[in-house]
Amino acid sequence: MYNNNPTLTGNKEIDEKKQGEVFFQQKGSDKPNQKKFYIESYGCQMNFSDSEIVASILNEINYAPTRNMEESDLILINTCSIREKAEDTVRKRLRIFDKVKENRPGTLVGVLGCMAERLKEKFLEEERLVDMVVGPDAYRDIPTLIANAEDGEKGVNVFLSREETYADISPLRLGTNGITAFISIMRGCDNMCSFCVVPFTRGRERSRNAFSIVAEATDLFQKGYREVTLLGQNVDSYKWKNPESEETVNFANLIEMVAKVSPDLRIRFSTSHPKDITDEVLHTMASHENICKYIHLPVQSGNSRVLKLMNRTYDREWYKERVQSIYNIMPDCAISSDIITGFCTETEEEHQDTLSMIEYANYSMSYMFFYSERPGTLAARKYTDDIPLETKKRRLNEVIRLQNQISFKNNQADIGKTFKVLIEGDSKKSDKEFKGRNSQNKMIVFSKKDGLQPGDYVQVKVFEATSATLKGQLV
Ligand code: SAH
Ligand code: SF4
Ligand code: F3S
Repeated sequence: MYNNNPTLTGNKEIDEKKQGEVFFQQKGSDKPNQKKFYIESYGCQMNFSDSEIVASILNEINYAPTRNMEESDLILINTCSIREKAEDTVRKRLRIFDKVKENRPGTLVGVLGCMAERLKEKFLEEERLVDMVVGPDAYRDIPTLIANAEDGEKGVNVFLSREETYADISPLRLGTNGITAFISIMRGCDNMCSFCVVPFTRGRERSRNAFSIVAEATDLFQKGYREVTLLGQNVDSYKWKNPESEETVNFANLIEMVAKVSPDLRIRFSTSHPKDITDEVLHTMASHENICKYIHLPVQSGNSRVLKLMNRTYDREWYKERVQSIYNIMPDCAISSDIITGFCTETEEEHQDTLSMIEYANYSMSYMFFYSERPGTLAARKYTDDIPLETKKRRLNEVIRLQNQISFKNNQADIGKTFKVLIEGDSKKSDKEFKGRNSQNKMIVFSKKDGLQPGDYVQVKVFEATSATLKGQLV
């Protein structure tokens, strides 16, 4: 569930480096005495979405976003703990912020997100120039923490909540293209995948009020947005009980409610868990043209023994059955995945099962990683991280190579087909070209025509394909 990745075959190890995306508001207002904040976000889309909640909270206390950290009064970094490398990146960025602070005493530095939650007070000991440490459920406390920090008192709030969903906060969209937006529909995770730090950094799973989600989608549509991505670590376990009617809204009900906002509003979601995705969800997707035919369904491993060690609670056969169900109900649906190589005790044969799963599921793309042991997780406590780094990396390269081949084949099969594309903006390479995605989440680049603008839907016929992009022409 990583950020709007323009490439089809993403490798998150690479993406992580690029992910220090700076967020700023397009139109900053210049009220008197207004202070400025600068924010960088790392990790998953949840974090990017949270940064927009933080921006909204800061806006209330007269802080405006800036893209220039040198002129900011407050530097924030929204952090990720998912792999060791993600944390290393954050430490490196803190060294840069330290320099800014030396040149501009009084600038406050705050660490937000999962690494803040994981390290808590230790952060203040380890990183002398950090003024506040704020966990994912404590963002409402930021104004108080800032006030204390201004008085020279460093602060930590890493309280994890069972209720907080920030449902009433209208996010301040940062670095937006004005067409696509994220909406958080739940927080936390109750699964205990043995490799994963998220349950420790994000706390218990809770679902947000369904009406507030529909209201946010409606508001975005009225402001010109044409696509929303509903976010959660495990969207299929979304469950919200209406306190008035006592009725329960499940994920299938929710996507239907959002789909009804307008036929011109596209719905995407991430991440689906193979154990929880139901045929009811698949049928709901099939019966609404504006619910995109794309499912991110991380397999992690193609081998049942490894999946058991990972505590994923499904096996290879179950996963294959879910894939079959998706293709039966929606033959035009694309599926993507997350894959971990070299998990504890994984053998060469078991690794081969992951490779064969990539072929079986015909993933349009995957995010691929080698296993990185995380302190405190079940795997760290119970299993030995016994696969040598070279082996993990070699297996990862095999996975990447095969996925690239499959993506290429998958994209080649689109040549000659015509897709409905939502225009998102200029292509990276040329302002004479637009880029936009089809329902299957594939990026298509095509020459512009007068009168068209971002937010318009067009029909594009594909004539060329690499493993990463499709090229087409308007029809
Ligand atoms: N909730 C999502 C995953 C969120 S984390 C799900 O269940 O699918 C995103 C991805 O990071 C995971 O799918 C997994 O592939 C990878 N990941 C998580 N912990 C990891 C670890 N310790 N080492 C390597 N990759 C990891
Ligand atoms: Fe982590 Fe598993 Fe929860 Fe995903 S479902 S966030 S991998 S514990
Ligand atoms: Fe996301 Fe990283 Fe936290 S993947 S939930 S920001 S550990």
